[in-house]
Amino acid sequence: MTQILVEDVWRRYGSGKRAFSAVRGVSFTVQPGQLFALLGTNGAGKTSTVEMLEGLAAPYRGKVRLFGDLDPVADRAKIRPRTGAMLQEGGFIAHLTTAETLRMWAELTTGARPVDEGLELAGLGHRADVAVQNLSGGEKRRLDLAMATIGRPEILFLDEPTTGMDAEGRHATWKLIRGLQEQGSTILLTTHNLEEAESLADRLAIMHRGRMAACGTVTEIVADHLSTLSFGADPSVPIGDLPVAGTVEQQAGRVTITTGELQSDATRLLTWAAGKDVVLDRFTARPASLEEAFIRIANTTDVEPEETK
Ligand SMILES: Nc1ncnc2c1ncn2[C@@H]1O[C@H](COP(=O)(O)OP(=O)(O)OP(=O)(O)O)[C@@H](O)[C@H]1O
Ligand SMILES: [Mg+2]
Repeated sequence: MTQILVEDVWRRYGSGKRAFSAVRGVSFTVQPGQLFALLGTNGAGKTSTVEMLEGLAAPYRGKVRLFGDLDPVADRAKIRPRTGAMLQEGGFIAHLTTAETLRMWAELTTGARPVDEGLELAGLGHRADVAVQNLSGGEKRRLDLAMATIGRPEILFLDEPTTGMDAEGRHATWKLIRGLQEQGSTILLTTHNLEEAESLADRLAIMHRGRMAACGTVTEIVADHLSTLSFGADPSVPIGDLPVAGTVEQQAGRVTITTGELQSDATRLLTWAAGKDVVLDRFTARPASLEEAFIRIANTTDVEPEETK
C-alpha cells in the first residue's frame, strides 16, 4: 500500500488576475517506512505542498491520498491520530513551560510516549521548566519536533525541521528521525540542507517554481548531471590533444574536464598519460554532487505563464 500519494497536484492562491499557482502538477509517492525529502529554492512550493498532505488546504486540482485511500481534508478525523506534523511556523502558548506544552500535547495524542522521554529525545530535558517564550529559536524548533513525534506517528511531516538549529541539534534531530523510521514511520520532510537530504532520504525531489525539476534517489538525480575529471599539469602538456569526449578547460595550472562519460573518459585519459609518461598531479574523478544538480536547477529562470482555464 502506498503511504503517501500525490498525483498531478496544483495549489492556487488568489483568483482572477491575481491568481498564482504555487504548485504546478506535482506527483510522487512514498512507500511505507520510506523517507522522502522535498528540496527546493525559497518559494518553490514545498510548504504549499506539505500543507495539502496535512489537510490544511485542499488542492486546486489533482489528488492527494494517505494510507492508501484516505483524503487528508475529508478524512481528517481518521488521519489526525495517525500522523504528526512539524509546521514551518508553529505557535505556542507563551507562558506555559516546555514540559507543560508537551504534556498538553501528549494528552491530545493517542499512544504518546512519556513527556520526559520526548523532552530528552529532542534535547530539551534541561529546559523543561522554562517558559516557552524564553526558549531560543533553535529550542523552539526542538519543542516543535518533540510535539510532532511524541505519538510515534505512522506518517510524519516535517517542514524544515532543522532550520535554526545548531550542529548538535541537527544531529540529534537526524538521530530522532532515523529512530522513528526504524520503527516504521513514513516521513516526508522539506529542507534547504543538502547534507540533510543526502544523509536521510531514501528518495527526494527538487522543486523549483512550483514544479518538480528532478525526482529519484541521489544517484538517479546526479546521473543527469555532468561529472568532472581534474588534474594538475605543467603548460607543456598538450591539452588540445586529450582523447576525451568532455569539455576541457585549463586554469591556474589545473585541467578540468566536464563530461557525461566519466568512466570512459577517465580510462582514455589515464591510458593516454601512461603512454606519454605524463604525470597527472592530484588526479580526481567525481560524479556531479547533489549540490551541483540543485544549483543548476535553481538557476533556471524560465517563468511559466499562469494557466487561465
Ligand atoms: N497565502 C498566499 N498567497 C499568495 N501567495 C502565496 C501564499 N502563500 C505562499 N504564497 C506563494 O507561493 C509560493 C510558494 O510558497 P511556499 O511557502 O510553498 O514555498 P516554500 O518552497 O515552502 O519556500 P521556503 O523554502 O521559503 O519555505 C511563494 O512564491 C509564495 O510567495
Ligand atoms: Mg516553506
